[in-house]
Order: sequence, then structure tokens, then C-alpha cells
Amino acid sequence: MKSGLEDVVAAETVLSDVDGKNGRLIVRGVSLDDLVAGSRYEDVLELLFDGFFAGAAPLAAQLGAARVEVFAHLASADAALLRLPPVEAMRALLARVGDGDDLASALRLVAAPAVFTAGLLRLKDGRAPLAPDPALSHAADTLRMVTGSMPSAQQVAALDRYLVTVADHGLNASTFAARVVASTQAGLTSSVLAALSALKGPLHGGAPGPVLDMLDAAGSPASAPAWLEGALANGERLMGFGHRVYRVRDPRADALKGAVRGLASSGAIDPARLALAEAVEAAALDLLKRKKPDRPLDTNVEFYTALLLEALGFPREAFTCVFAMGRVGGWIAHAREQALDGRLIRPMSIYVGPRADVAA
Ligand code: COA
Repeated sequence: MKSGLEDVVAAETVLSDVDGKNGRLIVRGVSLDDLVAGSRYEDVLELLFDGFFAGAAPLAAQLGAARVEVFAHLASADAALLRLPPVEAMRALLARVGDGDDLASALRLVAAPAVFTAGLLRLKDGRAPLAPDPALSHAADTLRMVTGSMPSAQQVAALDRYLVTVADHGLNASTFAARVVASTQAGLTSSVLAALSALKGPLHGGAPGPVLDMLDAAGSPASAPAWLEGALANGERLMGFGHRVYRVRDPRADALKGAVRGLASSGAIDPARLALAEAVEAAALDLLKRKKPDRPLDTNVEFYTALLLEALGFPREAFTCVFAMGRVGGWIAHAREQALDGRLIRPMSIYVGPRADVAA
């Protein structure tokens, strides 16, 4: 029995292949490198939805219309909801989007994390949410709704690269949660809500905010090694390092590091911030190699995610919401695949509690 189900195969999928030994990610036959070279999030959604929904291409205009449709739900955000952390407020609003298994329902669920996150961030600051512009790309409109101004082409490309990079990743914890719920035929909205709930934990999608906390605490390139050593000695995990499947560097880390360097070269990231991050990364890798020699621990997707989302103007408490904006496409495709082809997921447990006959 493996309590983390490591190495247990629980699904067959045509959606993505995570090659942990060689550090490669393939999405429907396309390598991550090819995918990030110029794809918009809409292109990857078409790829993921192909064969699972009728009329899924082209879908940019349909996704724009879905953003406009779900915007109305922000009117129901009351004071109690606005006091919740963004990911929990977003989850509460998502539950109101309605259920259905057709493309329109799926696109409302894809649109909702972006529209709700942008609207909630503004409402929390006492500002009115900005209505979606269906003519813009999903990434451009999301940035516009968050910041209130038209993003640069480079900012749009950076968010697109992020959303594309995280769109799907095998049977990670949140995708597995989506498939378990889909296997009961509970519907797409329930699957996405379950997935989002799994995503928000710090061992999964909740890591990038704490990566920034770690950079702040590490202070400077000079003080970083000692701070990291102290954190590890206290039994803390270094956020943005390690992975259940990758035994080498997470290929998504480099895809995002490229975007971060691009933003830095245009002045969108303070060079001192990037230098600190690179110093912390180098010191952490060195430390993990020395202190955990039996376990290959390398940089994961969350490390450069943190810098990228910070540079794009997202507050750190909303980073998990932005992860959900991208991963929701994968959740929906997996939920559809499971509901159409899979069986009810119902594993067994081993009872290790007291036996009635022994107790007697
Ligand atoms: N920092 C320090 N030690 C780490 C570590 C990290 N980031 N990741 C794993 N380890 C250590 C564990 O403490 C454990 O050591 P031990 O055997 O001496 O107790 C060993 O490596 C194996 O850890 P394990 O819990 O089996 O790894 P896992 O496969 O279950 O965990 C993660 C994978 C991602 C949960 C884990 O690497 C982690 O917590 N990373 C930090 C959070 C993070 O970045 N999450 C985003 C993932 S994309």
C-alpha cells in the first residue's frame, strides 16, 4: 500500500504525458517547447477539447462570450464573500455558474476563474469590476480586467505562456480529484469545484505565494544561503522545489524562466528581484543536493510562476486563482474523458483499526 498512490496508474488518457525521468511534458502529442512557442491559451483549449466537445474549434469568440455571460455572477458577491481569501471567494462564485456537459457549459467554467478573480480583486479594493471585452484574447482581457489598463503585447504573451504551460499535467492531485468526481457522473461544475479545492493546498497550487514569502525572508543574495539552511533545519520545505513525478528539472520551470527573463529585459521586473530569485534558486539547489542526497529535488513550476505573476500585477494571495485559470482547461478535458470512457473510481482501503472480535 502506498499512501500517496505514487506509481499507481489510475487512468488512461490521451491528454498529456508527464515524463518524470527525462523532464518532458507532452500535451496531445505536442511537446511543451512547441506548445509555448506562440500558442495562445485558446489554441491549447482547442487541442484539449478536440473530440470531447462538438464545435470546440475555433473557440476564441465563444470563450469571449462566456466571459461576458459569467460576469453577471459578480453582482452576487456580498460582504461575507469578499472577506474570504480570493480562491475561496472564487470557488463560491463558481458553484453558481450552473451545470451542464456541453461546450457552452465548459466554456463558462473556463471563463469563470479569470472573470471572477479579476472582479473579486477589484471589489475587495472597493472598486467596481470591469466588464469583459469579448473581442480580446483570454489573456489580454484577464490582464485588462485585473489592472484596469490595456496590457502590453509582452505582458499578454507572458500570461499566455503561463496559462499554456499549466493547462494540463497528467494525473496531478487536482486533476485526479476532478476525475473521481466525474466518474460518479456528478457533472462538470462539481468536478471543477473538487479540483479547485485540491489545488489550493500549499503542496499543490498554493506554493507560488509562499515562494515570494521565501524570497522576502531570504532578503538578499548574500543572506539567502544561511536563511535557506535555517529553514531546512527547522523542517520546512523549500517552496518551488521538489516534485512527485519529476526526478530532474521540471520543464515548465524553464518555459516560465524564459518568460520572466523576457519581462526583465523590458523593465517589467526589477533586475534586483530577478537576481535575488536566481541566487535563492542556486543556493536552494545546492543545499537540497547536500542535505537530501537520496532524493533528487529540483526547481518546479511554482518558482518562476511566482516571479511572473508578481510582475504581471497579480497579488500573491490570488496566485492560486491564476493557476486555476490555466488548469481549468485540463480539469474539464479530463472530467469529460473520465465521464465518457471511465468507470466509477472506487479504490479499497485496508482496515487497521481495532477488530470487534479482538476487543471483545
Ligand atoms: N524542500 C525540502 N525538502 C523536500 C522538498 C522541499 N521542497 N520536497 C521534498 N523534500 C524532501 C522531504 O522532506 C522528504 O525528505 P525525508 O525523506 O528526509 O523526509 C523527501 O524530500 C521526499 O519527500 P516526499 O514528501 O516523498 O516528496 P513528495 O513526492 O511527496 O512531494 C512535493 C512532492 C511537491 C509535495 C514536495 O516536493 C514539496 O512539498 N515541495 C514544496 C512545495 C511545492 O513547491 N509544491 C509545488 C509542486 S508543483
